[in-house]
Amino acid sequence: MIKDVFNAEEGKTVKIRGWVYRHRVLGENKVFIVIRDSTGIIQCIVKKDVVSEKVWNNAVNLYIESYVEIEGIVRKDERAPGGIELKVSNIEPIWKGFPFPIQKDLSEEFLLDVRHLWLRSRKMQAIMKARHYIMDYLREFLNNQGFYEITPPMLTKAGAEGGSDMFEIDYFGKKAYLTQSSQLYAEVMIFSLEKVYTLAPCFRAEKSRTRKHLVEFWMLEPEMAFYNQEMNMQLQEELVRYVIKKMVKEHEEIFEVLGKDVDMHKSIDKKFPRLLYEEAVNKVNELGGKMKYGDDFGADEEALLTSVYDVPVFVTNFPKEIKAFYMEEDEKRPGTVLNDDLLAPKGHGEIIGGSERIWEYDKLIKRMKELNMNTKDYEWYLDLRRYGSVPHSGFGLGVERFVKYVLDLNHIRDAIPFPRTITRLEP
Ligand code: 4AD
Ligand code: MG
Repeated sequence: MIKDVFNAEEGKTVKIRGWVYRHRVLGENKVFIVIRDSTGIIQCIVKKDVVSEKVWNNAVNLYIESYVEIEGIVRKDERAPGGIELKVSNIEPIWKGFPFPIQKDLSEEFLLDVRHLWLRSRKMQAIMKARHYIMDYLREFLNNQGFYEITPPMLTKAGAEGGSDMFEIDYFGKKAYLTQSSQLYAEVMIFSLEKVYTLAPCFRAEKSRTRKHLVEFWMLEPEMAFYNQEMNMQLQEELVRYVIKKMVKEHEEIFEVLGKDVDMHKSIDKKFPRLLYEEAVNKVNELGGKMKYGDDFGADEEALLTSVYDVPVFVTNFPKEIKAFYMEEDEKRPGTVLNDDLLAPKGHGEIIGGSERIWEYDKLIKRMKELNMNTKDYEWYLDLRRYGSVPHSGFGLGVERFVKYVLDLNHIRDAIPFPRTITRLEP
């Protein structure tokens, strides 16, 4: 692997295999080739006067993304990436292929058309590694706290979040929907396992064309028996801090490839500020926004509000009318619910939505009737309140929103390999 060459002694002959990442013929007698594999890149230099004619021709006639085997001598060179280059003695194309369609200065749209090839770029490679680690650390944190991972269905009979953004499908002649959230299934499992989480896709026919909406995204949904909203928020704060600190500590090189400075997370140990919904609305208005009590935060309002923080901020106690049916009302602040949205700083906005759930049967039925919900579709969910119900809370963290925030990406589509948006279902 390429990373091993960086640990090899100077003057040693090594053999590597990889894809041509850059290729430049310099004048009459030099070719610069940068080779990449999953572990890194290395500069290789071919000089006409020290190789056979066949090797020289092989070196000249490569394409970007040709797959090659190279033998060469390790040399220190300050100007090469990582301070090492290979002086090539042999180069063998294993798959020369065709001229690669991605060249310089291409539009975002084109890069999305050739996403299946663009995923080989250093930028996307770094982001996909980060996504892997982030998902791994999310699980690690919860597993260490005694949570069980459970796997929910994607095909459902009724929505978890309500609203008009459900994908309807034909299920053998009956209506079904792609899941909007796994929460209700996580709630089922707490009565067996007490602390559980799902890490699964969610589907929302979102019409919003913003930098933070996908039609298909992944959500982490922990659900905890006997947790109140305060414990719920503590857990969210600790989880977010754990993953960010571990990313910064173990993967500074990923931030470097992306041109980002890990210093952007230097305040992450600070306690996350908390605002009541009402205070957050006032703050948005102070900062030049226009919101009334009862409005939800749009992308612009979230950007305004979070522009003044360097750590995520909790907004709590939303009016119950703009939140989901299952949220418990706050007795101390009637008309508002025991919930939180966790908004990431610098305009990234909402990464988590969480709440205490209505756990008593009578209260839940009353709320569902107020909202004219068809309780028939939720009989099994109501059973959870009929038999051995207990207070509980949970939350949902959008994986791509979180990746976007951790790496400070410009657009959510880069946080997932194959983004699904209103206009894109391919590749
Ligand atoms: O706030 P939401 O809608 O909450 C729920 O679905 C709850 N059932 C979660 C729970 O309590 N178990 O979504 C949760 C998170 C959001 O904060 C956001 O990070 C992400 O999911 N999210 C999206 N991410 C990308 N594209 C979209 N269209 C998203 N919609 C929500
Ligand atoms: Mg939300």
